[in-house]
Formats: sequence, C-alpha cells, structure tokens
Amino acid sequence: MQRRRFLAITLGAVAGAGIEFHCASVLAAINSKNSDVPMLMLNNGRKVPMVGLGTYSLKGKICIESVYNALKNGYRLIDTAHAYGNEQEVGAAVRKAVADGIAAREEITVVTKLYPNQYGNPVQAIEEGLAKLDIGWCDIMLLHHPGSNDIEAYRAMEKYVDSGRIRALGLSCFYIEELTAFLSKVRIKPVLVQNEIHPYYQDRDVVQFIQKQGIAVQAWYPLGGRGHQKELFSDPVLTEIAVRHGKSVAQIMIKWNVQNGVIVIPGSSNPMHQAENMDIFDFELTPADMKAIGALERREKHDWY
Ligand SMILES: NC(=O)c1ccc[n+]([C@@H]2O[C@H](COP(=O)([O-])OP(=O)(O)OC[C@H]3O[C@@H](n4cnc5c(N)ncnc54)[C@H](OP(=O)(O)O)[C@@H]3O)[C@@H](O)[C@H]2O)c1
Repeated sequence: MQRRRFLAITLGAVAGAGIEFHCASVLAAINSKNSDVPMLMLNNGRKVPMVGLGTYSLKGKICIESVYNALKNGYRLIDTAHAYGNEQEVGAAVRKAVADGIAAREEITVVTKLYPNQYGNPVQAIEEGLAKLDIGWCDIMLLHHPGSNDIEAYRAMEKYVDSGRIRALGLSCFYIEELTAFLSKVRIKPVLVQNEIHPYYQDRDVVQFIQKQGIAVQAWYPLGGRGHQKELFSDPVLTEIAVRHGKSVAQIMIKWNVQNGVIVIPGSSNPMHQAENMDIFDFELTPADMKAIGALERREKHDWY
C-alpha cells in the first residue's frame, strides 16, 4: 500500500477550512519537481485534494484506463455523474486500483451526481448510483442542478448519510439565490458546490458567498471546457505568466483556482496532461499575477447552466 505522508502545513483559512499537504506521486516521465497536493478540510471534517480528475465525456475502456492511470499517478479525487454514463467504469477503475494496492478505498474520494430527471424518485436514483459505482459507499453525492423536487431528493440523500452509504452531500450549478433558498430547508450542510469557474468566468461574488458559508467551491471547466480552450490557451496575459514561471497555461489556470481556495477537477484522458495538471505545487502565483488573471473576467459562461 502506498504510504501517504501528511505534512500539516497550513496555507491559510478558506472560510474556516484548514488546508494541508499530502504527498502524491506523479508520472516519473514528467520528472515532477514537487508532487505535494494540498488537501482542503471540508465542513464535515473530511479532507479532499485540491486537484482531482473530471470524467465528463470519458466513456468505456478509455474511462477505466484514464481513472486507473490517474489513481496510479497520485490522483485521489474523481468526479463522475449519472449524466456522464460512466459511473460503472469509474467504480471499476477504483476497485482495480484498490485491489492492486495503489490506494486504500478510504483514501479515494468519489463524487457523483443525481440528475434532475431523477429527483422524482430519488431513492431509486441513489440506489442505482451506488450499485453502478459498487465501491462500498459514495463519498460525495451532489444534485447536478436545481430542479423540481430537488429538496426532496436532497432529503433522501441525507438519510443515506445517516446510514453511512453516502459520506457527504453537495450541490452543483447553484448560485447565490438558489443556495440561499436551499440551505434553510435542509438538515445537512453541503460540503461543496461545484460551479463553472475559469479566468473568463470567475464568478468571484458567488465563490466568496459560498466559501463564507463554510462550503467548499469546486470548479468545473477549470480549463474553459472542451471546444472553448483555444482563446484561453493563447491568452497573452496567461501566456506571459506561464512563460515567466516555466509552466503551461493549463497549469497557471489550475493554480489560480487553487490559490483562490477552489478545488479543481480538470478532465483528461491523456496521462501527460493528468500529470501536468497535478504538477503545480512547486511555484506560487504572485499577488500581481493573481490580480492580472482577476482582470481577465468576462463573465463568459461556456455552458448554459
Ligand atoms: N457539475 C457540472 O455541471 C459540470 C459541468 C461540466 C463539467 N463538470 C466536471 O468538470 C470536469 C472538467 O470539465 P471538462 O473536462 O469538461 O473541461 P476542462 O477540464 O476545462 O477541459 C478538459 C479538456 O482540456 C484538455 N486538457 C486537460 N489537461 C490539459 C493540459 N494540461 N493541456 C492541454 N489540454 C488539457 C482535455 O483534453 P485531454 O483529454 O486530451 O487531456 C479536455 O479536452 C468534467 O470532466 C466533469 O467531471 C461538471
């Protein structure tokens, strides 16, 4: 079993959440200088890595291989959803990684989501998700979007937290208005909210609002999302910062979110990209870099929700 070393280095307070480092291996081929991945303490006392793997659009064998490879190379946070049609494959990769001694099941955080068309029969939907994953329990289950019966669906998920078959709950695509209405109606506080966040859609007021509630923020489309990346990857401000730090634009975008206390889940089936996306802990963006990236905000959403 790979031994994990916890270094208890506090980076700063993010809405009452402590951050510490743990060591993770990355691809030797990348010759990573620093493979420490910070962990964010959630409001239920559990910790999750600041960088995980997104699996939207990963299917079948490619999904199993990508998730397994990521786990083998140090990832410990995997994001899936009913809507991605790959919970079975993610579960298979996790089981294989555990069986091969890459990580203990307890070290891996698997996030999945119920889709709004499942909220009408949440128990069936939760059972289906748990059965497809088949990894003993689900670490964090989210509502993928606000929708009719979302409160009832969440309350059903709360009962699974009580029984231990789900360890924590969260929301996705919830903004200030939706969250304000939602939080007063539920018993178990979500541990995280997953929203679109990248340099062209920063949503700072929403991020800060969520963090102030003691809820972690997780960024989807941290690299801008498939089909929207050309402009971001050649952005002159990001490129200048990347060249100065000897990093790629992708690494600068991921680091910017992490330095804002936001967890990132870049999607990739490419082992080199997966390793690159984790190799961001041997440098710091300066306050001037953070300000320059902050000024790139365009409120340019790359998806409708
Ligand atoms: N909650 C929601 O509503 C919601 C919505 C959308 C997405 N998500 C989650 O968020 C995750 C991330 O979103 P996403 O995967 O759609 O978009 P993304 O992470 O912004 O971008 C993924 C794309 O970037 C490429 N890429 C990854 N690392 C790279 C690197 N270092 N250099 C160059 N290209 C790189 C990937 O290609 P390669 O495969 O070739 O590396 C892929 O085409 C999803 O996988 C999903 O888990 C959630």
